[in-house]
Amino acid sequence: MKKVITYGSFDLFHEGHYHLLKRAKALGDYLIVGVTTEQYDESRGKLNIVDSLDKRIEHVRQTGFADEVIVEDHPGQKAEDVQKFSIDIFTVGSDWTGAFDYMKQYCKVVYLERTKNVSSTIIRTQQYPIIRIGVIGSGRIATRFVPEAKYVSGVIVNSVCNPCRNSAEKFSERFELDLATDDPMVLLDAVDAVYIASPHETHYGYAKQALESRKHVLCEKPLAFQKKEAEELYALAAAKKLVLLEAIKTAYCPGFVQLVGIAKSGAIGRICDVEACFTRLADKKRRECTDIKYGGGFTEFGSHTLLPIIKLMGTDYQELRFDSILGGNGIDLYTKASFVYENGMALSKSGVGVKSEGQLVISGTEGYILAESPWWLTQYFEVRYEDPGKKERYFSKFLGDGLRYEISDFVAMIQGHQNRAFKFTAEESVAIAGVMERFLSNRQSGKQ
Ligand code: CTP
Repeated sequence: MKKVITYGSFDLFHEGHYHLLKRAKALGDYLIVGVTTEQYDESRGKLNIVDSLDKRIEHVRQTGFADEVIVEDHPGQKAEDVQKFSIDIFTVGSDWTGAFDYMKQYCKVVYLERTKNVSSTIIRTQQYPIIRIGVIGSGRIATRFVPEAKYVSGVIVNSVCNPCRNSAEKFSERFELDLATDDPMVLLDAVDAVYIASPHETHYGYAKQALESRKHVLCEKPLAFQKKEAEELYALAAAKKLVLLEAIKTAYCPGFVQLVGIAKSGAIGRICDVEACFTRLADKKRRECTDIKYGGGFTEFGSHTLLPIIKLMGTDYQELRFDSILGGNGIDLYTKASFVYENGMALSKSGVGVKSEGQLVISGTEGYILAESPWWLTQYFEVRYEDPGKKERYFSKFLGDGLRYEISDFVAMIQGHQNRAFKFTAEESVAIAGVMERFLSNRQSGKQ
């Protein structure tokens, strides 16, 4: 019996897939089809898969050509499968010509001619009109956003707004955008969605203005410095059926999503304590160190450290206390925020003027999870137990600057895939705004 194997995402199943499977089956007697998981696709840069794995498998089965369907979830699996299933022929479409020549050491490799003018990417683009994004603010983070958006299909960054027109124009020239303006209303007229990357204290105002103009909003952290402002924004977005997402990029990256899943699976027993630290020594002349009202370690990096705390311990803490080391101008060089929960506790450490070990430790009744610096770009973490010999290691890809993951989820949600919202919910974002509010009100009243 001649055994054939082929692989693909088979998203939005189309005639090109059908023809490929038909001809693959005709190459032998028994056809195995490997369908990729969403996570594997993400790790190789395919960020916009629409159909679920179940649906994609079902579509392959319905053709009647596959004698067996398997799931492909890691690099190197093709070579394993070919040996494990004693495959005679490995085949894929001609768009891959040459890419799998290395498989010739195991079996025959056949590149089948690709069906012209059809692909999942073309269908995705037709089904979902391209989303035009305008960037508000043109500072450091905005310069990372535009190149990252290029990795996500279905979006185009077309414009930029900055009250300083010259900065907007420079930014627009650098990234070849269509429009540079100092007037947010002009930008809002030209887009379907905005990415807000302006100074922190302006986030709420711009987000509100964009939502009122019926535009989707991806807003850099912190979304708001007051709980009621964040609540108001989410209520406004819900009322107008718009997507509002706070851009804490860690929340959307595959490694962190896996870490949260494992922590919540019971692998370390009941979670009792979360300790998260993020410090970066900042230039004394920069906004982080000079902005007396909104600068400092906690407003700068607290969103990062609060994320795992709020996600794993919940939004319902009983006590919250801040201790800070202040600079001469009153901004916090280093802040510890200590939480007490009904069944546990948590500690956030953040700083712009004190350096510490940037790690995330999640402690449970059976073991703990350790994610070392830079845990916020989650690529690796360990699950450890009482027995030091027992250690589970988890690796995950984190591509580029990582902003592509939040952009991909933002786009998917605009396209109606609300099931992505679990990665960082409105309730969690509101809770973080509530913590920020407590911190700033303590600062104002001199309680720190
Ligand atoms: N394929 C084909 N003809 C097409 C499209 C795909 O023969 N017009 C083949 C691919 O070469 C591959 C298999 O179908 O062997 C599964 O491809 P997949 O990557 O899932 O489909 P694409 O439509 O190419 O997806 P995308 O646009 O996301 O890259």
